[in-house]
Amino acid sequence: MLARILRALENQSYPRRAWAAAIADMISPVLVPGATIVDAPCGGGVIAFRLARSFPGCRLELRDISGAATEAAIHRLRGRADVRRGDVRDLDATPGHDLWILVNSWFLLDDPDSLVRSKRVRFAHLLVLCDDVESENYRAFCARHPEFHGGLNRNAQPVDELIARVEGTGYRLIHSRPLGFIPLHARNESLAASLLFSACEGVARRRGARPGYWAGLFERTADDPLP
Ligand SMILES: C[S@@+](CC[C@H](N)C(=O)[O-])C[C@H]1O[C@@H](n2cnc3c(N)ncnc32)[C@H](O)[C@@H]1O
Repeated sequence: MLARILRALENQSYPRRAWAAAIADMISPVLVPGATIVDAPCGGGVIAFRLARSFPGCRLELRDISGAATEAAIHRLRGRADVRRGDVRDLDATPGHDLWILVNSWFLLDDPDSLVRSKRVRFAHLLVLCDDVESENYRAFCARHPEFHGGLNRNAQPVDELIARVEGTGYRLIHSRPLGFIPLHARNESLAASLLFSACEGVARRRGARPGYWAGLFERTADDPLP
């Protein structure tokens, strides 16, 4: 019992708990039986941990280039997923109908368009979750960390441009949603921080703040032969 409570606390991690719920909701109508959900880069595996609960029959494949992140994900998923250290550029691209979730990582990838295009034959669906550079939250974060925009964030662009960019790789947007007012600077690994940020989010939403993140679900266009 105590172990279960400790594990539940360990997996709070705001905002990923809320992101995982939104992702599960968005992808459940399009998951093809037998499809693998690929979470790459997966970080510490918090989102996949929750997807494993939502879709117990689904195969999960997790990859991250960081050894520490991969170890954390292996520990968190405890045999419920294929978790390995690896570069997203080396993801298997065997033709298929799998689903790839690209969470909070578009910003750090060099030439994500070519990457997505090169894996397209495998992925019938792609979910991209990223920050909304036009939100107050993003602006406030960049005011404190001016090096981020155009630095670590290599792909800073408004959501409409990002959608056009992904669609240019052979996908079309089928569903999108804003994802809450989420402090980009949040150190969010504890239950107390999760509860505090969740409460702040409620207040910000009531005051009409523009959501800080966005998620889009894309479907592969059938303009080339599918397997
Ligand atoms: C901001 S974190 C997001 C992780 C996860 N999607 C999440 O939301 O918790 C970015 C992750 O990308 C990983 N990463 C960076 N470049 C990568 C690459 N080329 N291949 C695989 N992982 C990469 C980093 O190690 C880091 O864990």
